[in-house]
Amino acid sequence: MLGSCSLEALRKRKSYKWSSHPADVLPAFVAEMDFDLAAPIVEAVTAALAIGDCGYGHKGDLGEVFAVFATRRLRWSPDPSRVYAIPDVMTGIAEVIQAVTPPGSGVVINPPVYQPFFYRIRLAGRRVVEAPLRRGDDGRYDLDPDALDRALADPDVRAYLLCSPHNPTGRVWSRPQLLTAADICQRHGAFLLVDEIHAPLVLAGAQQVPFLSLNHELSERTVSFTSATKAWNIPGLKCGVAISGSPRMSAVLQERWEALLAGQVGVLASVAAYGALPWLDALLAQLDENRARLSQLLGDHLPGVRYVPPEASFLAWLDCRTLGLGYDPAAAFLSRGRVALSPGPGFGTQGRGFARLNMGTSPELMAEAVRRMAATVSS
Ligand SMILES: Cc1ncc(COP(=O)(O)O)c(C=O)c1O
Repeated sequence: MLGSCSLEALRKRKSYKWSSHPADVLPAFVAEMDFDLAAPIVEAVTAALAIGDCGYGHKGDLGEVFAVFATRRLRWSPDPSRVYAIPDVMTGIAEVIQAVTPPGSGVVINPPVYQPFFYRIRLAGRRVVEAPLRRGDDGRYDLDPDALDRALADPDVRAYLLCSPHNPTGRVWSRPQLLTAADICQRHGAFLLVDEIHAPLVLAGAQQVPFLSLNHELSERTVSFTSATKAWNIPGLKCGVAISGSPRMSAVLQERWEALLAGQVGVLASVAAYGALPWLDALLAQLDENRARLSQLLGDHLPGVRYVPPEASFLAWLDCRTLGLGYDPAAAFLSRGRVALSPGPGFGTQGRGFARLNMGTSPELMAEAVRRMAATVSS
């Protein structure tokens, strides 16, 4: 179902991943995967094109289909009428931030974290306030309640943008961790935006807790964001999902309906994706294998790199500080090894000396990426 990830076929793609570097560079940076699409998605898109169904996006069955998926896979039964189709997660986040916080106010994030959190908050005219994750001696990251409390105590802070599961650390937050964070946020009267885009990609051994499934009183001021685009690899089709935690937050989304129109083909593809569970299961099995395989590969070729396998998704956060490659090891991997990883410092100052590797590919291409990283160090 996932295909062979042939490099020759992949190089025909014209997406960001495959167009940003010369042909001798192996791309393993941006969060696109190399697998074939799920057949139901191809069928839905082909059928839409055949009848010219490319007008403005309409939510259609997305709310109901997402609710069925959430019930089956996430132990959560959202009300379909609270589910909105949006163009993508980051646009939804930026619109809601602008709607619920005053210009110049602070928005809290937990670095190291997904790079666009920093610049989309700034582009929205708000201030980034950091409540860094706590990193244990074992290399595992956790939410830091004290840091969160301090950050949210700033009277100018009006919102908290939580990444759950967390990119790039791959952490899946537990129910107690989420409840603690929610209590702190509630106490300080902030709005909560939860980015759950990686939720369908939680791997064996972990259990995603969708924030709104907690029914915390903070839901009144919460919007959750997710999409089929990460798990089924269709970000280019432009459809995300926003779920409002209350009628008040529904009104915020409804008022901005025109700014938040999803791509019509993206909606149809997402509806197909949420039913494409055999493909998702094949993907999750492959990612489970890849995260273990990466431990082996690094042990064999780059024992100095510290790697804690992610609990979700296909991104590996690599501590390369012992390699002597400076603040931005990805720059050296690219120039000397001809492999493109995401630079760690882009995820915040906490990412200095780190790099993020995309494992959403075949074991063979992942091994080639590690071989090129190792060649960088030995050269
Ligand atoms: C945590 C997180 N949020 C948002 C996005 C981007 O989502 P979208 O393309 O829907 O804006 C990504 C993409 O990798 C991500 O990892």
